[in-house]
Amino acid sequence: MTDIATKPSPKPEPGKGPIVQRLFGAIAGRYDLANHLLSGGLDFLWRRRAAKIVHSWAPKRVLDMATGSGDLALAITKQCPSATIVGADFCQPMLDLARSKGLTNLVQADAMNLPFSNGEFDVLTVAFGLRNMENMERALAEFARVLRPGGHLLVLDFSVPRAPLRWLYRIYLHRIVPFLAGLLTGEKSAYEYLGASIEEFPQGEAMNRLIASTGFDETQCRPLTGGIVSLYTARRV
Ligand SMILES: C[S@@+](CC[C@H](N)C(=O)[O-])C[C@H]1O[C@@H](n2cnc3c(N)ncnc32)[C@H](O)[C@@H]1O
Repeated sequence: MTDIATKPSPKPEPGKGPIVQRLFGAIAGRYDLANHLLSGGLDFLWRRRAAKIVHSWAPKRVLDMATGSGDLALAITKQCPSATIVGADFCQPMLDLARSKGLTNLVQADAMNLPFSNGEFDVLTVAFGLRNMENMERALAEFARVLRPGGHLLVLDFSVPRAPLRWLYRIYLHRIVPFLAGLLTGEKSAYEYLGASIEEFPQGEAMNRLIASTGFDETQCRPLTGGIVSLYTARRV
């Protein structure tokens, strides 16, 4: 039997940045609908959990990187009403969606080279975004630069659960998601890329080590929903 995970990867390399930017521009109109349907609404719970952790840090200034259609920024705004939440993304159609939901502090910016000063933020969050970035080490180093010493990083992203859930999950991820999302968005290949990118994305201890190597300590990984997603937190050294 073919192992789904070892199929040739459709991951767009090299020059991934502009390709990812176009890809999200193409699916922006249906992005939220596809997210909520394909996750069975769990994405709301994952973002709420992330926002509660952000609240526990009592930040004044938060940067939500790869903010996309703004759902995490909105969840954080609810939990931290007196904080300033800035959303940044390099895809303008996604930012337009975020603006249509009432977010105002939105900046078009590439995570590889952020237009912010050193130490400008108390917290930096990135949900389902780091995995898509051209160079994760460079992005994390930029995140460390714009965070103040002692500030906090939160990364929320997909991971691969342990067996036996892993087998079912892989069938869902590599067969069902591209099929359904292809019908919903007309961009099946974008969702084939999603599965490949999740398989290649470091998780658990590997992700903790990667984060720690870019200027952070106190790294922690919390698997959610049986490990379908993981929530990483760390403190800027
Ligand atoms: C899967 S969406 C996640 C959006 C949102 N954070 C959420 O939770 O739904 C990924 C987003 O990352 C953005 N992105 C990917 N690479 C980026 C980069 N290098 N700089 C800025 N944004 C990036 C894409 O444009 C897209 O909006």
